[in-house]
Amino acid sequence: MKLITSLDIGTSKVVALVGELDSYGDLHVIGIGESPSKGIDRGYVTRLDLAVNAVLNAIKEAQEMSGVKLTNVILGISGPAIKSQNERDTVSISSQPMEINPSHIERLIERAITRSREEGYEVVSAIPRKYVLDDQEGIIDPIGLIGSKLMADVHVIKVSSSLLKNTERVALNAGIGIADKFLSSLASAEAVLTPEEKEEGVLMIDMGAGLTDFVVFHEGSVFLTGTLPVGGLSITRDITHFIKINLEQAERIKIENGYALADMVNEAERIKVKPRGEEKEVGVSRKQLAEVIQIRLEEVMEKIADAISTRDINLDALHAGIVITGGCAKLAGMKEFLERYFDLPARIGYPMGVIGLKEKVQDPSYATAVGLIKLAQKSSALNKPFAPLKAQEKEGSNTSGFSNLMAKLKAFFRDII
Ligand SMILES: Nc1ncnc2c1ncn2[C@@H]1O[C@H](COP(=O)(O)OP(=O)(O)OP(=O)(O)O)[C@@H](O)[C@H]1O
Ligand SMILES: [Mg+2]
Repeated sequence: MKLITSLDIGTSKVVALVGELDSYGDLHVIGIGESPSKGIDRGYVTRLDLAVNAVLNAIKEAQEMSGVKLTNVILGISGPAIKSQNERDTVSISSQPMEINPSHIERLIERAITRSREEGYEVVSAIPRKYVLDDQEGIIDPIGLIGSKLMADVHVIKVSSSLLKNTERVALNAGIGIADKFLSSLASAEAVLTPEEKEEGVLMIDMGAGLTDFVVFHEGSVFLTGTLPVGGLSITRDITHFIKINLEQAERIKIENGYALADMVNEAERIKVKPRGEEKEVGVSRKQLAEVIQIRLEEVMEKIADAISTRDINLDALHAGIVITGGCAKLAGMKEFLERYFDLPARIGYPMGVIGLKEKVQDPSYATAVGLIKLAQKSSALNKPFAPLKAQEKEGSNTSGFSNLMAKLKAFFRDII
């Protein structure tokens, strides 16, 4: 078994996780390093030195706990400057029906990438999600089948080049190599979703401190990915305005007394707080606190619902409902709030299949770090990069080079994510 280290540079914390996956896919975690994030704001690097320092601290702690010298990591990429779209294209195989081989799929991917190119963005992933072979719909994997015309829907994800480069720079300046990179949202999904949920249709939401990532899976593969620059920090800030307390107090009150659904809180409940400029503690209505929280949550969920409605999919088609992860999933009443808001079943997404340091790692805040290891293992086990984030680009190389990207996009398997 091979040790893999993941690095999740979040808005509130940097996590380095050292683990190995056994043949059952269970993750044996042997080291965790965590450091408060500095110089990072919602995926963007705002001060390189501070961000590097936070990474160094997390790596050092993970090294001490695991007793392993860490040289390479699987890096998570997140931020609002990530776009996704579905491209549909057709390739003619030949006038006489013949066997479909990987090069036909490459051609489809090539076209989808070419069509999605945009100045300042890099296509980081192109995943065929649905094939039609001649007139036969519902083809899961066309390789080896016979046909003369192949059509596919390809889910293309692109990331702002500067966001990508600057995230990499933080790790590289900390003296850490990047073995592989994946979108944080896809990593979280890998950690918390079951294959059945992806097949049935599911909306996964990772609500962290500064970002809310969401991914829709339908018929087993990614249909939509998106990120909003809002998270638990916005809720905490709303509370500071509501009660006139500082950020630290508001964070504590949110965690200890917050609730996601106001009408489930008793009118009479009061929380003792000492607002700025007041001599004595005052009683604040817990129901009103919940209202403040609920308003912000509704705003976030409305944006997600809007993003879904602009695509060719209906929330009703997501039979497995909603899975929420990230630190905000721990907010009391979150499951009930989501069920009410979306009128779909909801559950909290805990990283699955974790052995070793389970009490600590089996927490929604660790979904990305756990998922990064799982994705890395999956892609190397199949020896097929499912996303071009895979190959490490040299600093300063022309990463928008098309051949460079295609070299990494050899084959795609819908069950990979
Ligand atoms: N019990 C709790 N109740 C409510 N909110 C909580 C609870 N525990 C943690 N949070 C919130 O979760 C957020 C942190 O989540 P997480 O660790 O997933 O963020 P991150 O990965 O650092 O940030 P991001 O992914 O947004 O860049 C904070 O805003 C914190 O207030
Ligand atoms: Mg996060």
